[in-house]
Amino acid sequence: MKADQHLILTGFMGSGKSSVGRELGIMLQRPFIDLDKYIEKQTGLTIAEIFEHQGETSFRRLEQQALKTVLAYPPMVLATGGGTIINEDNRRLIQNRGYIVFLDASQDTIMKRTGASHSRPLLLTGDKTVSNRFRQQKIKDLLNARRPFYEICHLKILTDNMSVNQVSRRILQQLPSAPD
Ligand code: S3P
Repeated sequence: MKADQHLILTGFMGSGKSSVGRELGIMLQRPFIDLDKYIEKQTGLTIAEIFEHQGETSFRRLEQQALKTVLAYPPMVLATGGGTIINEDNRRLIQNRGYIVFLDASQDTIMKRTGASHSRPLLLTGDKTVSNRFRQQKIKDLLNARRPFYEICHLKILTDNMSVNQVSRRILQQLPSAPD
């Protein structure tokens, strides 16, 4: 990773991007930004509220604006949202400015980690309720569709059965100090 590159975490919901990013920021002595939290702070709304009141298209617009803004900051650790890298323009921006780390996780692990959370609108049914069957199918479909985009990373870490600290240390061990 080059000194002027951001370390950008990508991966599905529940892959650990936010927790690992926070820890990596401390380890690398770099600022840490969680893109979803940044959007929430800017708008004064939760991600769930943005989806509910303004719709996903609006959220994606805010997400892209936020991405452009934070990528112009000095090198940091950035946790993107699970859908950020799917958009072609976002992907180009991320590839231009960052060293991309994909936190991979099996469908079972994602099921466990996303639990009964109400904070991820894409995993809730149309009437905003939690249904394990719906969530399982949704995770399977989205994961299949998105995997090729996550795979464009520089480094992939399988996080199943690993703690946040273990994943963070594994990334540090595998991070090339010289430019690719
Ligand atoms: C999304 C993932 C979420 C959040 C939004 C959409 C996605 O972030 O950006 O709910 O499209 O996968 P996390 O991956 O941090 O849960």
